[in-house]
Amino acid sequence: MTRLTTGQSFNTISAVGFLAVVMIAGGCNPAPGIARGEMLFDTCSPCHGDDGAGDQELAAPAIAGASDWYMTYQIEKFQNGVRGYHYTDAEGLRMRPMSRALFADRGDIESVVEYVFSLPIPDPPATVEADAAAGEVEYEALCANCHGVDGRGVDSPVPELRAPSVLHLNDWYIASSLRKYRDGVRGAAPGDGAGAVMRGPMAGMSDERIDNVTAYIMSMQRLPRRVPGPPPEPLPELIVDASILPAGVTVEMAREGQEIFHGEGICVTCHLRGGEGGPLAPSLTDATWLNVDGEYESIVDIVMTGVAQPLEHPGQMLARAGTSITDDQVRAVAAYVYTLSR
Ligand code: HEC
Ligand code: HEC
Ligand code: HEC
Repeated sequence: MTRLTTGQSFNTISAVGFLAVVMIAGGCNPAPGIARGEMLFDTCSPCHGDDGAGDQELAAPAIAGASDWYMTYQIEKFQNGVRGYHYTDAEGLRMRPMSRALFADRGDIESVVEYVFSLPIPDPPATVEADAAAGEVEYEALCANCHGVDGRGVDSPVPELRAPSVLHLNDWYIASSLRKYRDGVRGAAPGDGAGAVMRGPMAGMSDERIDNVTAYIMSMQRLPRRVPGPPPEPLPELIVDASILPAGVTVEMAREGQEIFHGEGICVTCHLRGGEGGPLAPSLTDATWLNVDGEYESIVDIVMTGVAQPLEHPGQMLARAGTSITDDQVRAVAAYVYTLSR
């Protein structure tokens, strides 16, 4: 992989971007919408390319082909410093000031996203040479649950649970992003629930395995795209016998916990629906416990602290699953988990 990021080209590009922003701010200002987006895209194309298909020399990935919600979400993260926060993240630090040129109150983000979304979907060539067959095994065990067996991503009403499509991406960018998640250079800012979701499966993954899974993604059928899988079915009503609950725990808490487990607590991404368990995390529905004794307080404690070194599963469980759920929400989700095996 080459990554030419000379100071000179970066400065020139910043200047081009800056000039275009000044021109936009200074007049001829279309209303929010695709025409405004096309004009704003003049500030993006020096790096991302006229067709939005990316530029390896500048390490700017393809953005045409991404879902609109995903682009909006990432631009907001760059603006808030939740992405591009790490001093070694040269690429993220390059993108971050560009995001600041977009103003929400002028409809800039929705406009440029609408324009990029209208561009033809690119199909970048494979450049990373690795063992795609070994990568397929990894993908099916560790990635398909969230990104879909076909890689087109999965929709969800909960932002943290929406996994983006990986089908339009350049392989050098996939491989670089996966290393960043692994190393905490991306996805580890406080409160970045989606980043935490993605960091789970990456913990401890070797460069070789990363390249293999990247090669497999490039070998996937790359069309049709941009059509995320449907959101999951509504949750079944939770029936709980109140007499089994420990003191201080109520049926209402368990019901609230069910929502958190399948929503902002992001537990479902590893423990799967109803806590049935999967390749990334154990079942919570049986009487077998690995790290706790199964009593209510032990479940509260482990959700608070996470599991840094799982006994039988890859990756790790972060404290509060890496989300910002409150103490009360932890107690509610633990109440739900407590009921599952009883
Ligand atoms: C100075 C070069 C540069 C400019 C100009 C630029 N970007 Fe970026 N952008 C990057 C780089 C580099 C990355 C990759 C960051 C990383 O690797 O984490 C990126 C990443 C992104 C991403 C995230 C892609 C993903 O798959 O997660 C989006 C969305 C994006 N840029 C949109 C834009 C938009 C919209 C504009 C114009 C307003 C723009 N960029 C202008 C360099 C640039
Ligand atoms: C538990 C759910 C989950 C699993 C498992 C998962 N991902 Fe992700 N993935 C996500 C989410 C959510 C994001 C968005 C994170 C963010 O906003 O930074 C993401 C982001 C990504 C990105 C960045 C996309 C971009 O445009 O920048 C890549 C690449 C990726 N995942 C590949 C993988 C691969 C390969 C695996 C398996 C080794 C995997 N993911 C496993 C949920 C998951
Ligand atoms: C990134 C994946 C991931 C997420 C997200 C996650 N967990 Fe876990 N969880 C694990 C792993 C891995 C273990 C430890 C398994 C092992 O030791 O092999 C674990 C263990 C547990 C245990 C102890 C089980 C035992 O048998 O020792 C409980 C309880 C638990 N998780 C509940 C939750 C709850 C509640 C949430 C949401 C707030 C959550 N988990 C989110 C991966 C995850």
